[in-house]
Amino acid sequence: MGGILNHFVRRHSFALAIVLGFQLFATAVKADSFNEWVSWQRQKAADYLIPNLSPDGTAPGTVVAATSKSDPDYWFHWIRDAGIVVQAAILEFEGTQNSDHKKHLAKFLLDFVDLSRRNQLSNTLSGMGEPKFHVNGDPFNGPWGRPQNDGPALRAIALVQLADVWIKAGKMDWVKTRLYDGKIPTHTTLKADLEFVAYHWQETCFDLWEEVKGKHVYSRMAMRRALLDGAWLADRLDDSGAAAFYRKQAGNIERELEWHWAADKGTLIPTIDRDGGLDYKHAGIDASVVISALHGATPDGKFGVTDDKMLSTFERVLEANRTIYGVNKGNAPGVAIGRYPEDQYNGGEPGFPGGEGNPWFLLTTGYAEFLYRSAAEFEKKGSFSINSINERFFKWLGIDSGSSVSQLAAAMRSRGDSFLARVKFHGGDDGRLPEQFNRHSGFRQGAKDLTWSNAAFITAIDARR
Ligand code: NOJ
Ligand code: NOJ
Repeated sequence: MGGILNHFVRRHSFALAIVLGFQLFATAVKADSFNEWVSWQRQKAADYLIPNLSPDGTAPGTVVAATSKSDPDYWFHWIRDAGIVVQAAILEFEGTQNSDHKKHLAKFLLDFVDLSRRNQLSNTLSGMGEPKFHVNGDPFNGPWGRPQNDGPALRAIALVQLADVWIKAGKMDWVKTRLYDGKIPTHTTLKADLEFVAYHWQETCFDLWEEVKGKHVYSRMAMRRALLDGAWLADRLDDSGAAAFYRKQAGNIERELEWHWAADKGTLIPTIDRDGGLDYKHAGIDASVVISALHGATPDGKFGVTDDKMLSTFERVLEANRTIYGVNKGNAPGVAIGRYPEDQYNGGEPGFPGGEGNPWFLLTTGYAEFLYRSAAEFEKKGSFSINSINERFFKWLGIDSGSSVSQLAAAMRSRGDSFLARVKFHGGDDGRLPEQFNRHSGFRQGAKDLTWSNAAFITAIDARR
């Protein structure tokens, strides 16, 4: 009897050891190959982003939204896309080992500043908030949703980063002659953007999706950050009067951002005071609010990646996305994230308008980036607390009040990776990231090599490190 039992245990623990060993092995291999894919895709993102900066046939300093010239025509310089992309370009400039890339980027950044000044001084239909320009630098005067005042704010955020790079490189003269002269009226790009934002943030404008006119969380988060980042630079350049003024306006924006909170829905409502543009967005769900915590992040953490209202919005938007898209009904990793439930924009391919919106690469990577950044911030704080506003977010992570901060951070990083795994799932062997992937089939769709998709991958990986 004993012999049989022994035999049984021996046989089965052997089998168990094999199974366990195999599983450990499989997990190790899987993690390794996932990390390898991450580095590979990160390199591809740079390889596909860089050619869209000052491509042949454009004014130097141009950022084309994509090279696609029809269905959709993205062969334009959008101020918003450029502001976001330039921040990724600066990361790449500072980190790259590739000397050709480095040279191209150094020249591009200088040209971008000069082209931006030309854009600012152009006679456009809506002034400084004009959303897009032809690739030769001329204003685009066709019908469009204008102004879009997040543009100058995002550009200002990028230019403060550039000022920092130039100051560290001993190029203070470039900073003072091209970016921030501290004069009124100003002759420099960054100061002009800051003055514009400081005096126009109260006005309604079109949102980042170029569809709704009103007051938007996304645009205002960008404006608030521009003013705070700008104030930091103004202080460094002994323009303390301006710094105080920018901080005051940032404080005013912060107060109005509170008005977007809808306690009953558990979300920050993307747009209030709508006074134009399309009016079928009723759910109050929009992933732009979530990425505003990235693009509008400030050191004080207000409405940032650990803010209760932002965490709640993150979870509500996530849950909505789960039910909107067919591709979220299977077992693919993570959740595919699109713009908003009522979206009809299919990427500009035939059938638009009136089509079906799809998940977007830059939003799905944005969800990953949010979690990586949030993990790092909670670790820095050393604590977290669960309350009635944020409880659903922590529940989704499987974290309760007995969990430690390191358990929280680990849960966030692995969920973050599940969103990147989702990008891998719908991406291709060539590593090219367009704008969207089809909500039913999962196939890539919309503008090919969208510059912003690549920028979003680069900043997400920067946050993952
Ligand atoms: C093109 C815009 O860029 C896109 O965001 C929008 O959804 C469509 N036009 C429809 O307005
Ligand atoms: C459509 C997007 O909605 C908008 O945000 C973007 O600026 C343009 N495409 C160009 O990429």
